[in-house]
Amino acid sequence: MGARIIDGRLVAAEIRGEVKARAAKLAAKGIVPGLAVILVGLDPASLSYVTAKEKACAENGLASFEVKMPAETSQEELLAVVRRFNADSRVHGILVQLPLPKHIDEKAVIGTIAPEKDVDGFTPINVGRMVLDEPCFLPCTPAGVIELIKRSGVPTDGARAVVVGRSNIVGKPLMNLLVRKSVNATVTICHTGTKDLALHVREADIVVACAGKPGLVTAEMLKPGCCVIDVGVNRVEDPSVAKGYRLKGDVDFEAASKVAGWITPVPGGVGPMTITMLLANTVDAAARISGLEA
Ligand code: GUN
Repeated sequence: MGARIIDGRLVAAEIRGEVKARAAKLAAKGIVPGLAVILVGLDPASLSYVTAKEKACAENGLASFEVKMPAETSQEELLAVVRRFNADSRVHGILVQLPLPKHIDEKAVIGTIAPEKDVDGFTPINVGRMVLDEPCFLPCTPAGVIELIKRSGVPTDGARAVVVGRSNIVGKPLMNLLVRKSVNATVTICHTGTKDLALHVREADIVVACAGKPGLVTAEMLKPGCCVIDVGVNRVEDPSVAKGYRLKGDVDFEAASKVAGWITPVPGGVGPMTITMLLANTVDAAARISGLEA
């Protein structure tokens, strides 16, 4: 039997319905949740993310404030924009699209975002709160992965979870979220220093692939019936399509879907969840800052 396909678009639509209703409730009390998005440079993937964020805000009753700055922007100019949004009462969430150009210190920029507006959950204050299981903004992609697992009915209590990848944006926060009592998995994190990836993945009831390497996780590595969440969004050359490339995940989907019990496709799996969780965080921020219930 083939794996159940976890439809991220469907789950995202369900959560967006909830977010839209909460945003409308706040708007009725005079607070329109507002998200500021700052993009430096013209990276095509980042540009398309930013456009999608703007569209999602409009569709769900959030205000968006977008600033596109040239790649040569100085760090001080960028910090000035972040500080301006920190002080702007119409803005409840601030997102600086990563990666930033090399001459800009990412840590300094992230560290300048007011923690109460850090809807990406990237500031050291929010990361610390997440690790301590205190109320905070959870990073959007890892939070989306947890929602996908939970809403698909995948058993997590006592499950063995293997996270493949240790980025600050996905792998490390996921390790923290999977280990929380509310999920209660036993977590292993694999990375480029791992000697035998297959040895670890083979033991996993839940595999999350977030290494950014197309096809890294193969069907042969998987335990039959496991849940596979593919966070990879890799552009691979494909002359047969007009764009010249297609998106491929970190998992060999075709073969893996014959072994796994659940699997997310790329595209249409984790991708739609990231912006959805960003909208949810922005509504939460607006509620907290205004002291109103959403
Ligand atoms: N670049 C890739 N993913 C993300 C994300 O979740 N947030 C931001 N700010 N930049 C990103």
